[in-house]
Amino acid sequence: GKVAVLFGGHSAERPVSLMSGTGVLAALQSIGVDAHAFDPAERPLQALKDEGFARAFIALHGRGGEDGTIQGALEWLGIPYTGSGVTASGVAMDKTMTKRIWANEGLATPQYLALSRAELTRERIRQIPDTLGLPVVVKPPHEGSSIGITKAAGYSDMRAAVELALGFDDELLFEQCIEGPELTCAVLGEGDGAVALPVIEIRAVAGNYDFANKYETDTTQYLFGSLPPALETEIRQLVLRAYRLLGCRGWGRADLMLRKSDMTPFLLEMNTSPGMTSHSLVPKAAQAVGIDYPHLCLWLLSQARL
Ligand code: DAL
Ligand code: MG
Repeated sequence: GKVAVLFGGHSAERPVSLMSGTGVLAALQSIGVDAHAFDPAERPLQALKDEGFARAFIALHGRGGEDGTIQGALEWLGIPYTGSGVTASGVAMDKTMTKRIWANEGLATPQYLALSRAELTRERIRQIPDTLGLPVVVKPPHEGSSIGITKAAGYSDMRAAVELALGFDDELLFEQCIEGPELTCAVLGEGDGAVALPVIEIRAVAGNYDFANKYETDTTQYLFGSLPPALETEIRQLVLRAYRLLGCRGWGRADLMLRKSDMTPFLLEMNTSPGMTSHSLVPKAAQAVGIDYPHLCLWLLSQARL
């Protein structure tokens, strides 16, 4: 039947979703799937039902598309969709909630504080390094693609970082900064059948792995097989536990930091609608195990359900 590729949306990651969705749509069409673009920011979702779409491929990122809300709407419409369900999507979209769950189960995630707009007085901001040290990473917990994130080196940086992040969220996440390379590890499947793909080490050549180094430059290096095999195995197992704890299904991608001093991996977050752009990492990880981009899309679609 007809497949809707949902992309665009109204989140701050709309531009990323437009890239992901364009790629997914073309890939599915290239292998004979009757796929059509559908931007839920422009059309009522009821049209999916009225126009007889049998399944939806979610290529939306961020609020409205990755946070359980569209998943819930598709449940109501009775249209099977790719990726995680309502609860896992909602939890994973909130980096603070995610960390609470992982920390509660003994999974390593950097130390953190969650502070609301009202709590963020000058005095309180000044005290944050007493707990978390410097630099400290300031994040709006419900964003993606590094939007609104700052690595703050001191008080004045922190003030500016808080201002920026409060533009996206009313409660902020302050995270201890782990010094070391950033890692990412994709997962396909569900429950006991979930498998972790090879770990990718990310080397942003100039600065941090921020929005520009994610999507706009071509200087970021992505390394496979750069870790000792035992550590690679440990990280894949950690990520599988992290994925199952959140109740994810279909696919996901965990982002981590590897502490250079003792090679300890720390989980940062789980992305339940990972990027599918030409710069994105799940397609690279799948390619490394022999799954090309169109077949990755086709497999994800085959796992669509309610
Ligand atoms: N939030 C972006 C799309 C990602 O994690 O790939
Ligand atoms: Mg993310």
